[in-house]
Amino acid sequence: MRKNILNKILKKDARSILDTVSPEIEVATTITSPPYYDMKDYNSDNQVGYGQSYNDYLNDLKSIFEGVLKITRKDGTLWIIIDTFKRNNQVVTLPFDLSNKLKEVGWLLQDVIIWKKDKTVPWSTNGFMQRKFEYILFFSKSAEYKSNNDNVRIYDTSHLKKWWIKYPERYNPKGKALDEVWEFPIPTQGSWGDEYIRHFCPLPQSMVANMIQISSDENDIVLDPFAGSGTVLSQSAYMKRNYIGFELNAEYIKMFKDYLKKTLIKNREEYELFRQNTDQDLFEKRILELRSLKYARVLTISIEKITKQNNFKIFVVLKGKSEAKNKLIKVEYQIIGAVNKADINDTISQLIEKPPLSKFGIEPLFKFKERKKFDGKKLYGYTKTNTYSHVKHPDFNAKSIRVIIEICVDLNENDYL
Ligand SMILES: C[S@@+](CC[C@H](N)C(=O)[O-])C[C@H]1O[C@@H](n2cnc3c(N)ncnc32)[C@H](O)[C@@H]1O
Repeated sequence: MRKNILNKILKKDARSILDTVSPEIEVATTITSPPYYDMKDYNSDNQVGYGQSYNDYLNDLKSIFEGVLKITRKDGTLWIIIDTFKRNNQVVTLPFDLSNKLKEVGWLLQDVIIWKKDKTVPWSTNGFMQRKFEYILFFSKSAEYKSNNDNVRIYDTSHLKKWWIKYPERYNPKGKALDEVWEFPIPTQGSWGDEYIRHFCPLPQSMVANMIQISSDENDIVLDPFAGSGTVLSQSAYMKRNYIGFELNAEYIKMFKDYLKKTLIKNREEYELFRQNTDQDLFEKRILELRSLKYARVLTISIEKITKQNNFKIFVVLKGKSEAKNKLIKVEYQIIGAVNKADINDTISQLIEKPPLSKFGIEPLFKFKERKKFDGKKLYGYTKTNTYSHVKHPDFNAKSIRVIIEICVDLNENDYL
């Protein structure tokens, strides 16, 4: 059974899901935009929406998603892209009516996301305001649901020039978490080809990619019971997921198959590149370096204040990933100078247990050396007041150089504005 239906778009009524797919199939996530209510004729018999009463339409959707719940695995999820519309001079709150119905069958509504489009289709006016968004309802089967959120954070190393370079400890090294407003332009003719636009409203590939990334891993099963042009299915194939699709219109099914054949290789390659995630890794590395550097500066100022000793420098050596709880990076701090070691050691033990240092995600190791020669390697020196710009041509013996590290940070004050 499993073999026969995987990676296929079936010309079947979504209402027959349970006759076609057995519960053992364990769908990881379902991503779908159901047919509009009585607005668009998709040219096939038995369509949901067209020609139905609102109640029948809602109940059909309810029983389809009840079936979907049964074939979804325990940590599985459901994404529904859906919109309000106007009837008899008033707004019909379809997203909310539907989510109440789905609550009755056991789906748990986790998030309501606004999909902000740059432009909209001409027929969707809702009074005097231009329509610019649709709803995305995000449900889960249980309270413990799959969520690969770190993979879809927003990260961009160019933003390192912003104010928060001064506060790297406040910024998640994986990037900024997604918020509830998603901006994705609706696909244009250019990216989809003329035939595709004949089927209106294909979903943006990158938006679907986000959902797949959050809710599934490679080889998992992604379902779309109203496949249409097959955006969800093709994107699943690009991202090495298995897919199952239902669609009544034979013409759309053929279009999807041709399209997938034409685009699979290129898009697989793009996915492989994305998977290596080099930008995100670079971003994380940069944030952790900045934290390691600032940690040394904060330490210098605090030790000085408490012990009144200032005849030392800190040489910072990054030691890679930390395995300790809540720590991200291991860093060796070598205290260089003729200092009262016991006094400083004592002070350090207190300082690192308290904020701000305890919040840096750093597992520190400490060493003491009376002197050290700084030469050979490429090193950068910083004063105790500034770790956003290294000292040009530093004399590492100079009293003002307090932190020495391999990392080069070179910004001026204006970069924070
Ligand atoms: C809004 S479209 C989906 C668009 C799709 N997400 C895309 O990116 O192209 C809804 C689709 O559901 C199909 N449909 C309508 N009733 C159906 C049913 N009972 N079973 C399966 N598919 C159905 C329609 O033919 C239409 O293609």
